[in-house]
Amino acid sequence: MQKVIDQGLSIPVAIEGLPIKPKSNSDLSFIKACIYGVLRNYFSLEKTLSSLLNSSLRAKDSDIKMLLISALYQAKHMNVPDHAISSVNVEAARYMKKKWACGLVNAVTRNFLRSGLTLAETDGFEHPTWLVDIIKGNWPSEWEQILCESNNHPPMTIRVNKRTSNRAHYLEILRKHGIQAFPTRHSSQGCTIVKPTDVTTLPHYVDGYFSVQDEAAQLAIELMDIKKTHSVLDACAAPGGKTTHLLEHVDGNGATAIDSGKKRLKKLRENLDRLNMNCRILHDDATNPSSWWDGKLYDRILVDAPCSATGVIRRHPDIRFHRELDNLESLTSVQHSLLKNLWPLLKVGGKLLYVTCSILSIENDCTVETLLKTNNNIEVNTINIGCGIKTKFGMQILPGESNMDGFYFSLLMKNENTHL
Ligand SMILES: C[S@@+](CC[C@H](N)C(=O)[O-])C[C@H]1O[C@@H](n2cnc3c(N)ncnc32)[C@H](O)[C@@H]1O
Repeated sequence: MQKVIDQGLSIPVAIEGLPIKPKSNSDLSFIKACIYGVLRNYFSLEKTLSSLLNSSLRAKDSDIKMLLISALYQAKHMNVPDHAISSVNVEAARYMKKKWACGLVNAVTRNFLRSGLTLAETDGFEHPTWLVDIIKGNWPSEWEQILCESNNHPPMTIRVNKRTSNRAHYLEILRKHGIQAFPTRHSSQGCTIVKPTDVTTLPHYVDGYFSVQDEAAQLAIELMDIKKTHSVLDACAAPGGKTTHLLEHVDGNGATAIDSGKKRLKKLRENLDRLNMNCRILHDDATNPSSWWDGKLYDRILVDAPCSATGVIRRHPDIRFHRELDNLESLTSVQHSLLKNLWPLLKVGGKLLYVTCSILSIENDCTVETLLKTNNNIEVNTINIGCGIKTKFGMQILPGESNMDGFYFSLLMKNENTHL
């Protein structure tokens, strides 16, 4: 957890690097539940710990601080028996070769249990102040709801692969396996699995019957109106959630997926393999077409831009520790550069969908506005998806709406140049 908070590691990477490998799936589930839970409740847990420690101990050792914070979380939220809270965490301190801390861990956990598990009072939002402020500024009426939703557990949603099955068919397969699921409301291919589970245990995972994907993310390709004969560029493609979706609509020869992240492209290739799909894959910088573009214009371009991910904090609670105001400047600069350099690659009559999982207008409408100011051949298309809040140039889904992640979409069509 410390590596996630202090060194910016993502939760999956931190789990992969654990010094002791979990012995069973249930141990792994416990570890994951503890990490995700601590990150969702970090601010109140940290304040509670401070009130249980005297100031000289507070700054002493960050490993022990994190151990104590997780012990408080286990006691408050994880149904761990009282005697185990102390003994397991004392044992952990010993394993970390911090014998000096065993008495402290024992005393603090017992004190907390004796206090009736009372948490210190905080603002209740469990987000850093800068993030609360910026969300408040963007969404003056909705901000409390957004912060509250960002602390909830997201559902497990899958998208059925139209090439191998269809939603009704796969729901029936799930039913026969005793797995409860229901169709999503806005995406025509989505199913929500009632009890989230290891995806590989769902029927026909290896046969490529479905992919895990939030319902809001599934709406992107539905919006693009892709025809079989179209040539499509997926400009920020990895790990391929939307590439695999668009390949249900076009032939692989007509599709190009590009991404600058090597490791993420490996994941994209694995996803394509499992789904038995292929397309042209480029490891390159999409903002610099002169290094990779073959000169043929595209019918459709998807720009699923890197962003603050402020719409998906409920899914990735570590985001609140990794993003800072400073990051926004470099992110918006890449977003502008992607739009500016990819717009010329679109055919007249073609469509570009700009997508982010951000809820901040500086990454959404403002980015689109800059493109509009410098090009006179853009028509902003209306988006009708039966959900979301209409913005100046697109549609914003806020986290939690119909239990979806927060996403922004702007659909831009290229006209003939009217005047230059
Ligand atoms: C939001 S993610 C894309 C998610 C993907 N479309 C999906 O549905 O699975 C943004 C991606 O943009 C990539 N990226 C960032 N800067 C880029 C650039 N200059 N050129 C190409 N890809 C870039 C990142 O590596 C990351 O994989």
